[in-house]
Amino acid sequence: MAGRIPQSFINDLLTRVDIVDVIESRMTLKKTGKNYSGLCPFHDEKTPSFSVSPDKQFFHCFGCQESGTALTFIMNFDRLEFVEAVENLAQQLGLEVPREQSGVVKAPVDPDLYEVMLKAERFYRQSLRHAPEAIAYLKKRGLTGEVARDFGMGYAPPGWQNLMENLEDVSEKSLLAAGLATKSDKGRVYDRFRDRIVFPIRDTRGRVIGFGGRTLAADDGPKYLNSPETALFQKGQELYGLYEARRALRRIDKLIVVEGYMDVVALAQHGVANAVATLGTASGEAHFHKLYRYTDEVVCCFDGDNAGRQAAWKALENALPTLTEMRQVKLVFLPDGEDPDSLIRAQGKAGFDKFVNNAVPGLEYLFSRLAQGLDLETVDGKAKFGGLIRPYIDKVVSTELKALLQQKVEAQTGFGASTASQPLSRQPARNKPKGLVRLSERLLTLLIKHPGYWSDVPVENRNMLVEAADDLGMLGEIVTYVNRRADADTEELLVRWSDNERSERLLMLAQTKLELPPDAIKGEFVDGMLHLCSKLELAQRKSAIDELQKTPDATRLQQYWQHHSKGEK
Ligand code: UTP
Ligand code: MN
Repeated sequence: MAGRIPQSFINDLLTRVDIVDVIESRMTLKKTGKNYSGLCPFHDEKTPSFSVSPDKQFFHCFGCQESGTALTFIMNFDRLEFVEAVENLAQQLGLEVPREQSGVVKAPVDPDLYEVMLKAERFYRQSLRHAPEAIAYLKKRGLTGEVARDFGMGYAPPGWQNLMENLEDVSEKSLLAAGLATKSDKGRVYDRFRDRIVFPIRDTRGRVIGFGGRTLAADDGPKYLNSPETALFQKGQELYGLYEARRALRRIDKLIVVEGYMDVVALAQHGVANAVATLGTASGEAHFHKLYRYTDEVVCCFDGDNAGRQAAWKALENALPTLTEMRQVKLVFLPDGEDPDSLIRAQGKAGFDKFVNNAVPGLEYLFSRLAQGLDLETVDGKAKFGGLIRPYIDKVVSTELKALLQQKVEAQTGFGASTASQPLSRQPARNKPKGLVRLSERLLTLLIKHPGYWSDVPVENRNMLVEAADDLGMLGEIVTYVNRRADADTEELLVRWSDNERSERLLMLAQTKLELPPDAIKGEFVDGMLHLCSKLELAQRKSAIDELQKTPDATRLQQYWQHHSKGEK
């Protein structure tokens, strides 16, 4: 990533842009007194409860509680990541996004490369129109012109110099940099894709960043050829079809991960628009991070054979760090010899949906696979199971989900699976009672969404929490920050922590739906903070007593009780 965007720029951006313009360019708003209102684009409704305040430059939905600035709106509506939304707004205003110097300097992407890819895509698409065999092949595979167009499918004709000869103002050097051409040992530059159906691979903004190409002939080199990694294209990050899925669907209740380009397109052809494919690689952690930005449920499809089961296990392992209580991963095993393409062609959408609806929840699969062959009625079996599952639970990052899984393990084995693999002293959070972990997580969500409520916490409690910040992890960090900056809003917090490895988690929390009216949220927040204070007090007292008991000193102990007995029942 480039360096972080300076806070001053974000503030500047938000003062220059008018939220009413931004929203009105995407949906219908009606002036109602001082504010504007309309049908909320974030939930289904018949009467408008979505309101935009030009004074506050803020929107809020009284129905689903979604709220935020122009940036939040663009992120949710256009389904953009934070940085993308900033770039989008800046572009509208004709501003260049400045970047602070960061430690890691990555070679900047040459903007011309996108141009080259665009020109190539256009050339391939035009070539398809004049290639009857290629069209016949796609028809034979059950695709209509409409779906081919939606995915921008094209054809790379036979020949070695097509791109050089047909793309205007494109040098050999940029064809090489874009991965569209290769260089022979003798130094000759020639087209990478020849006599192949090509599938443009797009980033989440719709820009073409690579291609996949399928041979028409069964025996001509590898079946599929993919763009190499370039400045634009990193396989481990990208998912084929994600842009198209987002464009086709307003709400994505789940994303289905399949193996091949053809699977994605064939599913779309049959009305399953929410499929994406990894690009000849396993589904990695980065893929899951990306997928969960757009949905809470990811269903991975695998072959029913041994290789498929191995791939499923790998995918599950990679998904673990990205899961939360809200985010699910599920697994589908297809009948031997079938892939989603062949299955949906044989059994139709209803047949495929049946498999997806019967998907195995990934965490259940994890537990049952690890318990296989063990007798959980015996102490030996329980201990083995606890040992086997521990490294997997350690991979879970979400404190809430982790606590939940630990409870499940404890229920099955009577042993805690939490702390044994980590030195206790370095992992204070792991020792915290689960209730406290849950409370902190909930408070963190509320604080991120409504930093303004901080000022409603009584001042002595605020001071106490700031003092205890070091023991409160992320919550402590943010409490410290909002305590200094009373006017900090959600955006500012997300930006402050935007180049932090925890930004994903914050963004996710910020997007949590709170199904409560604002007053109730404020109440829960303030009560929660008071509750946290009392728990902290209790913990401090306990450790003070432990201290005293270690070095028994009658007078100190007496003093302690005298000090703390006031006002106690
Ligand atoms: P498959 O071999 O399962 O092909 O490859 P498929 O998707 O069923 O393709 P059709 O139906 O025969 O057209 C699945 C994916 O693995 C990668 C591609 O990304 C492909 O979509 N792959 C496969 C390659 O990269 N190279 C290959 O030679 C084969
Ligand atoms: Mn296939």
